[in-house]
Amino acid sequence: MIDQSTVDRIMDAAEITEVVSEFVSLKRRGTNQLGLCPFHNEKTPSFMVSPAKGIFKCFGCGKGGNSVNFIMEHESLSYPEALKWLAKKYHIDVKEEEETEAQKQLKDERESMMIVSAFAQKYFTRFVWEENEGRTIGLSYLRERQLQDNIIKKFELGYCPDGKDKFTQAAQRQGYQMEFLEKTGLTIKRDDWVRDRFAGRVMFPIHNVAGRVIAFGGRTLKDDKKIAKYLNSPESDIYHKSRVLYGIFQAKREITKQDKCYLVEGYTDVLAFHQAGIENVVASSGTALTPDQIRLIKRFSPNITIIYDGDEAGIKASLRGIDLVLEEGLNVKVLLLPQGEDPDSFSRSMSSTELQEYIDKNQTDFIRFKTNLLLKDADNDPVSKARLINNIVHSISVVPDAITRSLYIKECSSLMDVEENILYTEMRKMMQKESEEVRRKEYRDKAAQQRQPAPPPTPKVIKNLCEIEEREILRILMKYFHTEVFEEEGENPEEKFSISVGHFVLSELENDGLYSDNELINQFLDFFRENLDNKKFNPSQFFTHHQDQRISQMASDLISEKYTESKRWTRGGAFVEAEDEILDLLVPKIVQEYKLRKVKNMLSDLEKGIQLAATENDMEKVMTIQNQYLNLKKVEKHLSIQLGNRTITR
Ligand code: CTP
Ligand code: MN
Repeated sequence: MIDQSTVDRIMDAAEITEVVSEFVSLKRRGTNQLGLCPFHNEKTPSFMVSPAKGIFKCFGCGKGGNSVNFIMEHESLSYPEALKWLAKKYHIDVKEEEETEAQKQLKDERESMMIVSAFAQKYFTRFVWEENEGRTIGLSYLRERQLQDNIIKKFELGYCPDGKDKFTQAAQRQGYQMEFLEKTGLTIKRDDWVRDRFAGRVMFPIHNVAGRVIAFGGRTLKDDKKIAKYLNSPESDIYHKSRVLYGIFQAKREITKQDKCYLVEGYTDVLAFHQAGIENVVASSGTALTPDQIRLIKRFSPNITIIYDGDEAGIKASLRGIDLVLEEGLNVKVLLLPQGEDPDSFSRSMSSTELQEYIDKNQTDFIRFKTNLLLKDADNDPVSKARLINNIVHSISVVPDAITRSLYIKECSSLMDVEENILYTEMRKMMQKESEEVRRKEYRDKAAQQRQPAPPPTPKVIKNLCEIEEREILRILMKYFHTEVFEEEGENPEEKFSISVGHFVLSELENDGLYSDNELINQFLDFFRENLDNKKFNPSQFFTHHQDQRISQMASDLISEKYTESKRWTRGGAFVEAEDEILDLLVPKIVQEYKLRKVKNMLSDLEKGIQLAATENDMEKVMTIQNQYLNLKKVEKHLSIQLGNRTITR
């Protein structure tokens, strides 16, 4: 941990335009600076830097934040790493705060494992280039596979000497402890013997997103069917197979740039694509694709093309992948290679341009892919056709976004020559069935929980329906926290107190016991509450400089132009220049709108409660809830009238 006063010093020094200008050429535009966004491909600039607010924002791709966020994103660094990067630039000494023993130990342990892995990678790489055994066996194998030296170097490939424990001994001689050699799986140790896991194998280091080595895949050079072709590091504190993608570190910048990610099966496929000049490619490496891996891709782009072998196994894997990717809300295309080809062999059979052209021409969206594939067997048989349609509609039904679903339905309708209405009905049935199953499962879980003595609290995922209103409240607080807008009479009518926006809003929320379903928003509110009477508290600076990434990120979103401009205000029909001339009306209105939204949500929950009680034939419960419902309805009406009376429009 870097202590807060050092963070503040770094933040104060790291002037946003200065930091950004190291990488982007900026032009003055009013009070702001404008340039071409470094995070996505664009021809007309939509990347804005605001020196006054200390933030950047791209209106094309949505990325935004403070100086530290910019360096994190641009240099692919973690938060502390980015702070240190800036500290170096501005010659600020970084003092690290003491950590607790437990924190230290866990961090030390993971850190030690990464350090051992880094050593191993360097050892294997040095071996393949400099040692006789490495060159004659390892390097010549890689060259036989037509891999160029620059690719071998880029992916830090290597070779682990054959024998019993040559590597382990070298590591120990250098002072690396057996504990971490074992925990990373580089060394296998039993009571009476020790050996290298990867002896005699060509080594493929696996990097995490930040580029640190966390595991290895080792390929045997023997043609023995009984020996596993690839051996991989075991699961460990630093390596969770299901969350890692091979090549993500080398690919991420290009994935962002091209706004697309190719997904292939193996180590060699990734290397071959890079060699062919296609760098936005990752591999799931031997495991079936997982949701965590898809989410990892989603951090860089929502567009995935799955490229698998055209054999039975490849087709099966593609079909499984499709629904998973769709469920995560991404766009998926599929490209099957001709039978017997994998991306490795295929890419070597043609030039780079031909390869790119082949991909562009032959990748199909998932509906077409499924149609072509299954229609081959269907042969105009109506029953098979119906099954095919069901299959496709099921895939569409897992897509979270309704608009995307409707586009897919349209395509399926025209492709299969079936009316959209019929497809919708089918899809709704499936979704209903699905949600019934979910509900039944919840019910079962609940019943099981009640039978158990002390159930662990399960984190609830609540769809937050008030977020628009809540963000608006935060925005107003950020901007006008200390501004005094209201007057209140004391006991003596002569006495008047002015009230700040902060006091007004927070006491309104407190009086009605309102809090958010989103913990992040509650954290903002807590900080505001703590600083109500702290005149030195500067919300936008405090929050955009905050150490918690989620907070600083959201803060810069809240204060960037998109949210604050482009609104028109009138007071009593007259046009008003700026929102700060109208705060006395605006602030209560925003609070009322929030309350109204909350009430509406509660009403809809109660409605569901009534329905449920009715199906359970619990009339007493129905009556109770109905009473609550009617009372709340009155509140709703009252709030609506109040809101209607406010004479401002937006
Ligand atoms: N794999 C694995 N363990 C195995 C076989 C395969 O982990 N015993 C993983 C590897 O990540 C491999 C991927 O599955 O890259 C795809 O397997 P395959 O197509 O058999 O390997 P290739 O990458 O084509 O390797 P090569 O060309 O060297 O045979
Ligand atoms: Mn292969």
